[in-house]
Amino acid sequence: MFSMDFKFEIASLISKELKCKKEEVIEVLEVPPESNLGDYAFPCFKFAAKLKKSPVELAKELSSKLTCKFIEKVEIKGPYLNVFLKNDLVAKEFLSEIFIKKNKYGMSDEGKGKTVVIDYSSPNIAKPFGIGHLRSTVIGNSIYKILGHRGYKCVGVNHLGDWGTQFGKLVVSYKKWGDEKKLEKDPIKHLLEVYVKFHSEAEINPELEDEARAEFKKMENGDKESLSQWEIFKELSLEEFKKYYGMMNIDFDSWDGESFYNDKMEDAIKELEKNVKTELSEGALIVNLEEYGMTPFMLRKSDGATTYHTRDLAAALYRLKKYKADELLYVVGSPQKLHFDQLFKVLELKGHSNKLVHVDFGHFKGLSTRKGNIVFLEEVLDKAIELAKKTINKKNPKLKNKDKVAEMIGIGAVVFADLSNDRIKDAVFDWDKFLNFEGETAPYVQYTHARCCSVLKKSEVKVSKNVDWNKIEDEISLVKHLGRFDYFLDQAARQYKPSILARYLLDLSSLFNSFYAKHKIIDDGNETTRILIVDCVRNVLENGLNLLGVKAPEEM
Ligand code: ARG
Repeated sequence: MFSMDFKFEIASLISKELKCKKEEVIEVLEVPPESNLGDYAFPCFKFAAKLKKSPVELAKELSSKLTCKFIEKVEIKGPYLNVFLKNDLVAKEFLSEIFIKKNKYGMSDEGKGKTVVIDYSSPNIAKPFGIGHLRSTVIGNSIYKILGHRGYKCVGVNHLGDWGTQFGKLVVSYKKWGDEKKLEKDPIKHLLEVYVKFHSEAEINPELEDEARAEFKKMENGDKESLSQWEIFKELSLEEFKKYYGMMNIDFDSWDGESFYNDKMEDAIKELEKNVKTELSEGALIVNLEEYGMTPFMLRKSDGATTYHTRDLAAALYRLKKYKADELLYVVGSPQKLHFDQLFKVLELKGHSNKLVHVDFGHFKGLSTRKGNIVFLEEVLDKAIELAKKTINKKNPKLKNKDKVAEMIGIGAVVFADLSNDRIKDAVFDWDKFLNFEGETAPYVQYTHARCCSVLKKSEVKVSKNVDWNKIEDEISLVKHLGRFDYFLDQAARQYKPSILARYLLDLSSLFNSFYAKHKIIDDGNETTRILIVDCVRNVLENGLNLLGVKAPEEM
């Protein structure tokens, strides 16, 4: 019997007493945040109200009925019924399962047969890769991995910002002020320079705006010359972005950016118009969303140019059809909330009932090094690796593969610092804290993992699941936390919040470290059992870090 089965069994006992469906109980059965509140907690409010009893009364009634071979005791805490499972049984189930499944532990077929298209990272070409894009990249990458672990078929799309009127401006300004040598040397910086110049010049000379509009029109009509210039910009930008993705070990199933939809937008508009009313407003083609309290969804500007809206509409229709997607996720910052509300409303009006989610996130402040006015991600990553190197030289100067490990730690720290915060909240990045081996950081979890590896290396006991389960005493809270991996992973997947997994790993690390500080593992009467626990902790830490996109070095 595995962790989920305990839940089913308890739910079925309770539902028998309440004469209701097991599913109704499963829905409310909680895993309490602390182990002194039991292994499962059943809140009695909802059912008590239905039965016209007080929750405490109902809890009392139920508590006397819940007996079976794996339940140790049942406690009443206010309106909650807290169920404690028997230590030896629980330990046996959890540890054997982890031992057998290894890195498949925590997998489920929850998402079997379902396809989710995840739109993440999606930086804008010819612009620096911003910190907001870093957030989208690491959150999206982790959601991709977590949902994959839960059985979904995931398609990761990098919806590159490579189309729009701004590229008309860019082509015009590069023609006027561009410098090939500078472009070669530091493309993004130079392109930003000429783009900024466009705006200051356009203030004095507004005709520039018309020129840019005409240029973009040419691009939309497939003019070879303007397109070839734009292609060079795109290639140079991608080269730089791919360097970052490489450092973070991130890849995509599709790189279809906004320009990919250039020849698909007219069809998308026609397709939409089959079911949704559009109208002309001051020459622009829109879907009026006033009824829903939103500004219009703009399909075509008065000059005929398409918009960010049009491209997202075409992209959504394309993804639903091409990938037969059941769900579309968009990992994009909160400032674009209205944009996605509008898009989802239009798709709903068109008759799509697919799950559409804007996985939004807040600001991430403080993660910057500044060169002029631009934040360069490369500098951020390099600085993190540099600091990690310094820490290694201080703590473990004889370490083998120092450079490789420093990279794992430095990049892991940046990624984890971002992921361990609830994505909705604004977060502050603190250079002084994040490489700390003690705090709520990647190095702390990585270090705990390396510690497990070193214990396993030193021990002469072979890891096996034939151990004396009755010898599990003090270790039980650690073991029970291992068994909660499935639950927290499920929550992280449902809420699209890798932070839930990150917090889980921090708690697991701290439980392990207290266990480690208190007990001798090697050469004490209980070595076989404890070595199995260490092996399971190691396994879950590595597995969990992987799902966050963070590497787990064996030594550091
Ligand atoms: N490139 C956009 C930006 O930087 C993000 C794109 C997000 N994805 C989408 N399908 N709109 O703001």
